[in-house]
Amino acid sequence: MDRKLKVILNYSSQIAKERDLKKVLLYLTNLAKEIIEADRCSIFLFDKDRKTLWTIIAHGVEKIEIPAAKGIAGYVFNKGEILNIPDAYKDPRFDKEIDKKTGYRTKSILAVPLFNRKQEIIGVFQVINKLNGKHFTKEDVELLSHISLYASSTIENAILYEKLKKAHEDVIYRLSHATKFKDPETQNHIIRVGLYCEVLARELGFDEEDVEIVKLAAPMHDIGKVGIPDRVLLKPGKLNEEEWEIMKKHTIYGYEILKESESKLLQIAAKIALEHHEKWDGTGYPHGKKGEEISIYGRMTSISDVFDALTSERPYKKTWSIDQTLEYLNKMKGKQFDPELTDIFIKNIDEIYQIKRELKDES
Ligand SMILES: [Fe+2]
Ligand SMILES: [Fe+2]
Repeated sequence: MDRKLKVILNYSSQIAKERDLKKVLLYLTNLAKEIIEADRCSIFLFDKDRKTLWTIIAHGVEKIEIPAAKGIAGYVFNKGEILNIPDAYKDPRFDKEIDKKTGYRTKSILAVPLFNRKQEIIGVFQVINKLNGKHFTKEDVELLSHISLYASSTIENAILYEKLKKAHEDVIYRLSHATKFKDPETQNHIIRVGLYCEVLARELGFDEEDVEIVKLAAPMHDIGKVGIPDRVLLKPGKLNEEEWEIMKKHTIYGYEILKESESKLLQIAAKIALEHHEKWDGTGYPHGKKGEEISIYGRMTSISDVFDALTSERPYKKTWSIDQTLEYLNKMKGKQFDPELTDIFIKNIDEIYQIKRELKDES
């Protein structure tokens, strides 16, 4: 079989199995390097905010970032033309700076633009130094153009996926905070509770999908507060017994809002809304569930939610110190909280405090 065809078939099966963008692109650059017989390859992407081209993949060097108007990659990016240069040092468009920094000696360069579906240029695929001192051929140009088409659509799909994922997260965080004007809880409290649960989920050995689910489901724990009348939700000071009974219903309202969806995320969020005030010893609400009758998701959210409340400032209390908080968690282990989860929580307290510090409440 033709050597090039063999290389292509070999890489296609690896690429088909891979979902990680960087790995797919690394396979594509390795494929280009082998069939075009070049020494190095790199894929530059355009950063709109910084107006630079940066290497998402680059053989032999750390990340490179250059002004989008500079060098061969900059030219190809701006003009949308393919450049096949036999001797870079004889071309005035070539920027020698990178060679100076890396100690590499560039000779021949082949660079093609990467287009998205709207035919906008999103980056540049570049191969450097044809082996054995030769120049890149017409066939190389054709091969690299084909590989670049594949690289472009892979990159575009990954960008789209990331955008969707961000939008999805944003919708959850914002709607979870629908009581924003009535509830002292902050947007960041909601996000943090999810992030603490993420730490617990990883420690418990959840798979990636379930880690992501619990991270996004836990923030919806108080969504049922939208059903609590203002006279209760907005009341300053202590609630009387009748008002407290109404307040407790936010767990059931949350469950009612979220249940019966086919989405696993919402099914788990419904459970969390219902169970996040249940206690390990059975003294919680609304149903007084005990121990493992409370789902693992409810137990994880309960400790995360309480921890975040203790370590946050509220109109009626100051922030608790680390020692005070740890003492409380230990005291409540086996009473309010799942004992095993409490141990895991405490074991990971540094990472959890780190989240707390990074995602402070705006004052
Ligand atoms: Fe709650
Ligand atoms: Fe909360």
